[in-house]
Amino acid sequence: MNFERLRIFLIAAFMLVSLVPLASFGYKVISQGETLIEEKASSYLKGLSKSNADAIKGFMMERANDMNNLSNIIDLFGFNTSILKMHFEQMKEHYRPYLVFFVLDKSGKLVFSTLDAQFDPVIVQTIGESVRSSLDTYIKDIFMFTIGQEQIPALMICTPILNASKELDGNLCALVDFRLVGSLLRKSNIEATGEVYLVDEKGRFLSTSRFGAKAIVDHISINAIDEKKQGLYETTDYRGERVLQAYQKVDAFPWYVMADQDMAEILNRIKALGREAVVYGILTAMIVFVLAFVISTIIVNILKAKYRYEKELEFQVIQKEKLASLGLLTSGLAHELNTPLANALLYTQIAKEELNESGIGIEIIQERLSTVVDEVRQGSKIVRNLLDFSRHSQSDAQTTDVNKALTKLMGIAGLHCASKKIKIEKELEKDMPDIKGDASTIQAILTNLVTNAIEAMPDGGILKLKTRYVQVLKKVKIEIADSGPGIPKDELIKIFNPFFTTKSPGEGTGLGLFVSNEMARKLGGDIKVISSTEGNAINPGTVFTVELPIE
Ligand SMILES: Nc1ncnc2c1ncn2[C@@H]1O[C@H](COP(=O)(O)OP(=O)(O)O)[C@@H](O)[C@H]1O
Ligand SMILES: [Mg+2]
Repeated sequence: MNFERLRIFLIAAFMLVSLVPLASFGYKVISQGETLIEEKASSYLKGLSKSNADAIKGFMMERANDMNNLSNIIDLFGFNTSILKMHFEQMKEHYRPYLVFFVLDKSGKLVFSTLDAQFDPVIVQTIGESVRSSLDTYIKDIFMFTIGQEQIPALMICTPILNASKELDGNLCALVDFRLVGSLLRKSNIEATGEVYLVDEKGRFLSTSRFGAKAIVDHISINAIDEKKQGLYETTDYRGERVLQAYQKVDAFPWYVMADQDMAEILNRIKALGREAVVYGILTAMIVFVLAFVISTIIVNILKAKYRYEKELEFQVIQKEKLASLGLLTSGLAHELNTPLANALLYTQIAKEELNESGIGIEIIQERLSTVVDEVRQGSKIVRNLLDFSRHSQSDAQTTDVNKALTKLMGIAGLHCASKKIKIEKELEKDMPDIKGDASTIQAILTNLVTNAIEAMPDGGILKLKTRYVQVLKKVKIEIADSGPGIPKDELIKIFNPFFTTKSPGEGTGLGLFVSNEMARKLGGDIKVISSTEGNAINPGTVFTVELPIE
């Protein structure tokens, strides 16, 4: 029994059973995690562009409101430069968004400015042209406004000034510092590579980007805005990076709030999730392995103990059987052992007497002594055979020479047979390969069969022993045939059953054939029986054939 293989098999089975569902579960978690991360990033970006678009709208509404209030003051108090100037200065001081306030007359000529000295007349002229005919709050494109050395993105917002008869009298204008919108957008909380910025319909930056795009000067490709109405897409941004981008039009303005995040960052998070799953997977596999190892070791140890116990039991049964047959076989042995001993004694005495006689040659004494030596040798051979046979140890040799084992057995049983008038006929094939199995087991099988045969012939008969090697089967066949009365049909089917015996208690145990058959099977062989009784054959008898595979 290969316990190591069993243990490996158990561990493998255990791991397979527990890791397959775990792996599929892990795969599910990862794939769902991916979509979750993407969905989260998408909805976050969408939410950002929407909330920022609302914030910008709010900012612009406030500016329009400021302007309307101021123009109302002018309507109320008339166009009074000093009052206006005071109001504007206060506005500028309290509301950071305004760079400059100025007033244009009906013809678009600059009539008042909080910044008169530095005001670029060219800009004023273009501004004037574009606002001349406006009746409502008018917002012009953002442009770079120069104050001293500084260039500031500015947005011009104008409100018409009406006279008493509700006719257009001029325009009140202000330049709003558009950097404020940029910092408003930058307040958005977004991960390392994310950003929010504002572009116009032509894709010009209206706020500076965190990554260095300058307001108005740089453009982004806004094809995506035209093509996809969803407001979320994957695209390549102005830096050439793959980004996930969301946009939202600012209500009532030709502006778009863009919110994007690098795909690399989103993918990184997905990869990190995968890595985490792998780490947990390996950890779990290790734990499962340790558990499997411990459990299979416990199981294997229990089985090992059981197996050893059974082996021991089996060994004991064999031993008992052996001793039982030994009793029978050695009954004649005592007598046989007595003969060489008596002879040795006799010849020693003769030699002793002859030594006293004169004229006896030394050769004669030598002859007597060598007879003594022969007899003692014969005696010790008998004793050695007996010891060999009854040895308790389980031999380590894994192969056995069947002919040798049979010869050894007959060395003991032969004497008994002779006393029972049983003739032994041997027909052993020479140079047969050894068979698989230890000598002790083979001997136990053969002894049981030979003992049964002898017991079947209490009044003498013929015991035939035959061995041969069958090449095609790679098996050795051992035939043990007796000329006993044979086994009746109804008993024949039971003889291999444990405790089946036809012998009187004390003589038979009914275990011999059962044990022999079990042992032969364990070696990969079997025992067959053919028997004919007096009723159906002229020459009754039984033939047991043991088939055992070679190494
Ligand atoms: N060579 C044989 N000739 C006749 N009967 C046999 C022979 N071998 C076995 N049997 C029958 O099979 C029975 C079972 O044999 P075995 O298992 O060796 O037990 P036991 O010898 O203790 O009875 C014997 O009691 C006997 O009836
Ligand atoms: Mg028997």
